[in-house]
Amino acid sequence: MIHETDMMQDIETVLVTEEEIHSRIREVGKQLGDLYRGKNPIVIGVLKGVVPFYAEMTQAMQIPMQEDFLSVSSYGGGMQSSGKLTFRKDIDQDIRGRHVLILEDILDTGVTLKALLEILRERGPASLKICTLLDKPSGRKVELDPDYTCFVIPDGFVVGYGLDYKEYYRNLPCVGILKKSVYQDD
Ligand code: XMP
Ligand code: MG
Repeated sequence: MIHETDMMQDIETVLVTEEEIHSRIREVGKQLGDLYRGKNPIVIGVLKGVVPFYAEMTQAMQIPMQEDFLSVSSYGGGMQSSGKLTFRKDIDQDIRGRHVLILEDILDTGVTLKALLEILRERGPASLKICTLLDKPSGRKVELDPDYTCFVIPDGFVVGYGLDYKEYYRNLPCVGILKKSVYQDD
């Protein structure tokens, strides 16, 4: 059951603290800002888990950019990837000839991003790269490596800083492994 009182009671282990998140995003954001300076990139956020990361990372980059969002689903609300990609919302802008950077909350099986990359590549961007907040290499089912990673994490279902279980915990300021007792009866 999801506790009504304190979300942190449902966290088994904190993997990344609030302070670590902020300082690492400032660091990677500076690198990305240098790399994309003068390129007027389109920065695409994969909803909904990317929201806090997107806001912080795009500000840390400190360069002119155009923003866009898309929404896909491969999990259907639960904890297992269904492997089927559903487009709920496409981006609004034409990316042909443009430098595109995709921001993602977590790279786990890689199924979602791989399918997404294929679709976007067909639209003819000048470049197409991925920056993920979290990389969970142990979960990988397809061959795919992020271009930029903020944190590599071990196996386990994580929530917080945008990541959810049944839409809860997205507003936790840190990233942690969810206690099994929270979802074992679901
Ligand atoms: P993959 O790489 O498996 O990830 O296609 C697709 C999407 O699934 C979500 N995801 C998670 N969400 N805790 C979460 O709250 C996790 O451990 C986790 N692993 C994957 C996430 O939205 C990702 O974009
Ligand atoms: Mg989710």
